[in-house]
This record gives sequence, C-alpha cells and structure tokens, in this order.
Amino acid sequence: MSTNRTATLTIDGKSHEFPIMVGTHGNDVIDIRTLGAKTGLFTYDSGYLSTASCQSTVTFIDGDKGELLYRGYPIEQLAENCSFLEVAYLLKNGELPNQNQKTTFEGTIKNHTMVHDQLTRFYNGFRRDAHPMAVMVGVVGALSAFYHDAMDAADPEQRSITINRIIAKLPTIVAMAYKYNTGQPFMYPRNNLDYTANFMHMMFGTPCEEYVPNPVLTHALDTIFTLHADHEQNASTSTVRLAGSSGANPYACVSAGIACLWGPAHGGANEACLKMLEEIGDVSRVGEYIKRAKDKNDSFKLMGFGHRVYKNFDPRAKLMGKVCADVLAELGLENDGMFKLAKELEKIALEDEYFVEKKLYPNVDFYSGIVQKALGIPTSMFTCIFALARSIGWMTQWEEMITDPEYKIGRPRQLYVGAARRTVKPLSQR
Ligand code: CMC
Repeated sequence: MSTNRTATLTIDGKSHEFPIMVGTHGNDVIDIRTLGAKTGLFTYDSGYLSTASCQSTVTFIDGDKGELLYRGYPIEQLAENCSFLEVAYLLKNGELPNQNQKTTFEGTIKNHTMVHDQLTRFYNGFRRDAHPMAVMVGVVGALSAFYHDAMDAADPEQRSITINRIIAKLPTIVAMAYKYNTGQPFMYPRNNLDYTANFMHMMFGTPCEEYVPNPVLTHALDTIFTLHADHEQNASTSTVRLAGSSGANPYACVSAGIACLWGPAHGGANEACLKMLEEIGDVSRVGEYIKRAKDKNDSFKLMGFGHRVYKNFDPRAKLMGKVCADVLAELGLENDGMFKLAKELEKIALEDEYFVEKKLYPNVDFYSGIVQKALGIPTSMFTCIFALARSIGWMTQWEEMITDPEYKIGRPRQLYVGAARRTVKPLSQR
C-alpha cells in the first residue's frame, strides 16, 4: 500500500523522490522500481539483505520478536489447534476451513494420493544408494511430463487441482524414495488413514502386515509438517517464484525449490545438525566444537544455529523442542544421549558471548533431526520431510505470484566487474 511518505535520494546534487509503501506489519519499503530509469543507477544487495522481492499476503515473520504468522495466525496456535491439512487449506485459501470445508478438502486430497503407475518406473533409473533428495528433484520434476498439457496457469480451477496434486502426491513420492533406497516394495496409500498417518504407513508399512500408526508419533510428525509449511521469501520459495516467473511448469518449479532446499545452509541443516551431533558424540566434547564454531579460520558452523531473519529466537525451534520431548517420552527415550547432548550444546551456546553477540539461536532444524531419528526416519530423508511440508508454501506463493497484477518475470541486474571491453586477437597472435 502506498503512503504520502517518500524517501529522497540525492545523487550528484540532484534529488529524486521515491514512494514509501507500508504493509500490515513489518518493515516499510522504498519503492525503487523507477530508480534505474530516473538515475541510471541500480541498487546493490547481494543476498537480498534489504530487499523485498514481492508483496505477499501469506506469511509474516518478526525476527526480533520471534513471531511467525501464517495468514495472520500465530504458528503456536496453529500447531496446537489445527492439523497440517487444515494449515495447508489456510495457506492455499487464505482462511481456516469450517467442518464441511475440512471434510471436503481431506476427501479431495485423498483422491490424488496415488501417482501415475508409469512414474514408479523412474525410481529404477536411480542407484539404490542415491540421495533421496536427488531422487526427489528428478521425480517431482518428472511430474511436469505427466501434467504439462493439462496445465493452464491462467485457469484458477487448474491451478487449484495442481496444488492439490502436489499436497497429495509428495508424501507418496517421498515414501517411495525411502522404500526404493531400502529395497522394500512401494506401499500404496491407504485412504482410511489421515494424511500424516498414511505417510507413516507408506514409509514404515510392508505388505506382510498392517501398519498401526501411533497417535502421539503421528501428531508429532503432523506438527513438524505445520512448522515447515511456509516461511515467506526464503531461498527455496524465492527459487520457486523465480522459476515460475517465466511461466515454467509448476511441478518443474517445485523441483527447483527442492534443489535449493537441499543445501546445508537451508533445509539440509537438519541432516547436517544430526551428523554434527553424532560427530561430537559426547557432552565432554561440546567445548571443543563451540571453540571451532567461533574460530574465523575454521569453516565449521554450529548446524541448527543462526537465522537470517530470527534475531531473538525461532518460534518453530521452541515448538520443536516440545515435540522432541513428547516423542522421546512416548518412546521411553528420555535419557537419549543425542537429546542430552543437544540440550547441553544449546545451553552452552546460548550463554556464550560469541553466540549472544551475533544473536545466534537454535533454529527449527536443531531439534527436528532428533525427533525424526526417534520416529525411525533415516538422516538422509530429513530434508525430504521438509520438502514435503514446504511444498504447500511453495505452491501458495507460486499462485500468489501468478495472480499478482504486478507480476513480471524475475530479472535481477548486476554490477559488472569483469574485464573491460577488449578486442579478440587471431589465434596466431595470442
Ligand atoms: N555457527 C557459528 N557462527 C555462525 C553461525 C553458526 N551456525 N551462523 C552464523 N554465524 C556467524 C557467521 O560466521 C557470521 O560471523 P561474522 O559476522 O564474524 O562474519 C555471523 O554469524 C553472521 O552470519 P551470516 O552467515 O552472515 O548470517 P546469514 O544470515 O547469512 O546466515 C544462516 C544465516 C542460517 C545461513 C547461518 O546462520 C548458518 O549457516 N547457520 C547454520 C546452518 C543452519 O542451521 N541453517 C538452517 C536455517 S533455518 C532452516 C531454514 O529456514 O532453512
């Protein structure tokens, strides 16, 4: 929304006015879209430290307060009162569902849980030991080959079906990646189970005997999905938006988001965090690793710590800590060495001057690896779980971009610092 306020930029004695836009919450922004035309200058903001790339109605983060809102609702209230599918409905439609809408939505998602039988053949092309995120990038991207002709992004109905397909098929695709890796047969979805219980059935069930989901563990995983469902303009979401801004097929865009999420600075941190805890191994070695994390000449970082936006605490980490305690209690693992180690590491880091001064707090990934490990999910699958949950955020943001009247292809500019113009010499003179 525009205001009467403006920002004045003076360059070489000449002043230029730029409108200031305000949002519902958070930082106001200076609208510099006319800067290049007015001044011949661009802004430089590598890493987007001060750049709002779009207007969005989906998610709000107050990094100083440690607040996260989906469509205006605090994450704590959503995690406590709603299932992941209700949260997915909220993100997709802007409002929480009533009972009828919830029932209808759950039924619709169940209708889409199976994947085209031909898609199952893709898995055979991968080595059994392929990283499941590599498999996900390929298989989700391949969905575009199944639904390309039938997908008109200008048609709201088709967009809605596409979003429903993504929500419904991601658990099936993730579970198949796991089954392929372990050499067990793929499990078909069971539509008498709810979304998360069905995922656990496809992950842990076998054709030999019926899988009976544990409600405490199912609830924990459902909460993990909710906590990861969206996070405004993070790296993978921005990737999905940028890929989609050219009009690319949305399944291919989600595949691009999965590729971005895989990195250890983003969604790969939960896997990296658990590996780090395994490497530390014992409470007695925590000091040594804290020292390494502070050493400028050592590339080691404390995985699961720090965040670009949260500079007080990550509200998802608080909720995840509770989920972790519940799961370990349910499984009788309260004295789990890894959990104790994580607690000690958290305590020491939170008191350490370096971490306090740089405002480095545990993020969502700090405890999520421990929870997932306790649930029986192997380390290499952690980021796939994140991708499954984040896919609703990606699709919601993709649709918001496609339907934005100001929508344009994303095309950043640059500061060129390469060789100055020069002349090619013939080969004999080089
Ligand atoms: N351990 C030790 N030092 C750290 C850490 C850490 N985990 N994170 C940041 N720092 C230091 C960093 O070296 C820098 O120091 P200096 O000012 O002396 O150069 C300072 O703190 C600022 O860090 P930055 O890397 O400039 O901050 P950023 O906003 O670019 O990066 C981050 C944020 C999350 C990538 C980074 O904190 C990090 O790599 N953390 C570990 C990986 C991790 O847990 N990622 C999960 C993020 S939450 C899940 C998600 O949403 O994807």
